Amino acid sequence: MAKIEVPYTHRLDVTLGRLAGSGLLLTSLDRNLKPNVMTIGWGTIGVVWGKPIFTVLVRPSRYTYGCIEATGDFTVNVPTPGMEQVTMICGSRSGREKDKFAECKITPAPGKFVKSPTIAECEICYECVVVNYEDIRAGHLAEEIMQSAYPNADLHRVYYGEILGTFAEK
Ligand SMILES: Cc1cc2nc3c(=O)[nH]c(=O)nc-3n(C[C@H](O)[C@H](O)[C@H](O)COP(=O)(O)O)c2cc1C
Repeated sequence: MAKIEVPYTHRLDVTLGRLAGSGLLLTSLDRNLKPNVMTIGWGTIGVVWGKPIFTVLVRPSRYTYGCIEATGDFTVNVPTPGMEQVTMICGSRSGREKDKFAECKITPAPGKFVKSPTIAECEICYECVVVNYEDIRAGHLAEEIMQSAYPNADLHRVYYGEILGTFAEK
């Protein structure tokens, strides 16, 4: 899918709608620079420190966690309608055991600003470099959320990714 660079605010309603629906696809590279992809359903886009920021929440148990720790960047990709099977597989299998790009027949495309690839078949792609992270702290979290989201601990690390470039289909 041929893409052009667009402002990060381009079609935000589509991005947020898919985030709350079947999910977005986050890519990262492992220590051996092999790409991995996982589905995310939680995140925000906004402005912090005068910069456009995509925050994503990744549990330490995810293979993706070690990947972002190793290489310090990631991309977030908005699947096109019809890719629900891809978000399902990438949200239920781990890159520890599977090459999800191969299994889902999706194509890693070189990023312009980051090492992690984007996904050629997705309609909007955000290239992000980690500029901060914070761990969710039990004592700071509303009790109701603590119980519903973290029955087994595994509290998320929140990565703040500065959006260096956003690309969308022409
Ligand atoms: C719709 C959906 C949304 C998800 N959102 C998140 C999320 O925001 N953060 C997270 O850590 N895991 C999330 N997951 C779970 C991961 O995608 C899943 O555990 C995945 O297999 C991890 O892959 P990895 O081990 O290759 O990193 C979600 C799963 C689905 C199906």
